[in-house]
Amino acid sequence: MALKKCTSLAIIAIAASIWIGCSSKEDKAKYDNFYGSGSKAREETALTVLQAEKRNTPVQSSTEAKPATDTAAPAPATDSTAAAPAAKPARKAVPAEVSALLNKHACLACHNPYDKVIGPAYAEVSKKKYSVDQIVELVHAPKPEHWPGYPPMAPMAHVPKADIVVIATWINSL
Ligand code: HEC
Repeated sequence: MALKKCTSLAIIAIAASIWIGCSSKEDKAKYDNFYGSGSKAREETALTVLQAEKRNTPVQSSTEAKPATDTAAPAPATDSTAAAPAAKPARKAVPAEVSALLNKHACLACHNPYDKVIGPAYAEVSKKKYSVDQIVELVHAPKPEHWPGYPPMAPMAHVPKADIVVIATWINSL
């Protein structure tokens, strides 16, 4: 009995000393030193920095916008037209209608407009100069011999012709 009491008292004493030890002022100082004290203060400085940035950006953009519209307005226009042929395969955004069809028929699982995935990039297919009808045929009955080094595409006879016409017209525009 006495032994049991002793051990339970000892456990309580140890627990209490650990608790006291952990919540000591010294530890709090160490914690603050490590993590920085006063999260409130840091929040406030961050906020004032943010507010200062917010105040600055409209001021900057309005001062920048004025000379841009006055003098440099034609410059970006010529820049972008010059950049388009330079970066040869200009990556145009896929029209929403086409991208919906590509998603619907899971073409994008194997094709990307400009990059090789499992199948060739549509920009590469475009170089083959197929007619729209030919592309419809090829989606319904692919000819893997057209693409050596690629796995054969599964025939997708279930895809409606009208949908492929939209996709094919877009492919040929790349
Ligand atoms: C499971 C992967 C996969 C899916 C899904 C897929 N393709 Fe393909 N596709 C390929 C591969 C691989 C090739 C190249 C080999 C071949 O033509 O069989 C290819 C080739 C093509 C070609 C070129 C055909 C040729 O002979 O030059 C066209 C066009 C094409 N795919 C369109 C589509 C369209 C449109 C869809 C969606 C309706 C689609 N693909 C879905 C893998 C896929």
